[in-house]
Amino acid sequence: MRTNLRDYEMEYEDKGNGIPLIFIHGYPLNKTMWEAQLQALSTVARVITPDLRGHGGSEPVQETYTMRSMAKDIKELIENLNIEQPVVLCGLSMGGYICFEFMRNYSNMVKGMILAATRATADSIEVKVNREEAVAIALEKGPLAIANMMLPKMLATATYAQKPALVERVRNIMVNTSTQAIVGDLRGMLNREDSTSLLKEIDIPVLILHGAEDQIIPKSEVDLMKNGIKNVKLQIIPAAGHLLNIEQPDLFNKAVRNFIQAL
Ligand code: MLT
Repeated sequence: MRTNLRDYEMEYEDKGNGIPLIFIHGYPLNKTMWEAQLQALSTVARVITPDLRGHGGSEPVQETYTMRSMAKDIKELIENLNIEQPVVLCGLSMGGYICFEFMRNYSNMVKGMILAATRATADSIEVKVNREEAVAIALEKGPLAIANMMLPKMLATATYAQKPALVERVRNIMVNTSTQAIVGDLRGMLNREDSTSLLKEIDIPVLILHGAEDQIIPKSEVDLMKNGIKNVKLQIIPAAGHLLNIEQPDLFNKAVRNFIQAL
């Protein structure tokens, strides 16, 4: 399905009935990373999976890929769908950064939040430098070079060894992300605000999900979020890396289902 936002046409899936549950994908990915959630959770919720600007089937825009602009895109999607009740947001990694920005601006639209494989802190100087290098690589060599850099960090050891089709699927998603979106995401992420001080303001139920073998988000970041948010539960998913929802869909979906049903 497609909808017109203020500066581009967004593609999204919308399946099921009940509480709106919006899944926000990470970098450099797209909505198909939520395929298992779309199928399994649409029996208990209205599952909506957008492609962020320049990702998947959504049109690329020039330059502006800030977390702020992407949070506003999600708000416009909700409005275009005429959803008036508060929604549940689930963001993975960069999707989580967008959830924090959404909370900063539109917290009255949110009933609950699931933060998967993400962090509240801003980028360190070292990470900013790495992102600038990745921008140069993306501009010079394109998405394949970025996929080759990212893929070895995304999954758990057993996933690489035992699920080659899944690894290929993730590579394909990355390779098919536009250079504009890759560069835009990198610049958007490196300029994002620190959300640590926002944590204590969050007064809705929050579920943190984290892969036991995540190589991108250290456990200390998870602890910081857990200790900062008032109404929070943490679940560590075994045998999963950064893409825990793809690697362990049954455990991930069960945790989300329990969270929604308790809201
Ligand atoms: C993501 O999965 O969205 C990215 O790895 C996040 C990041 O690079 O900080």
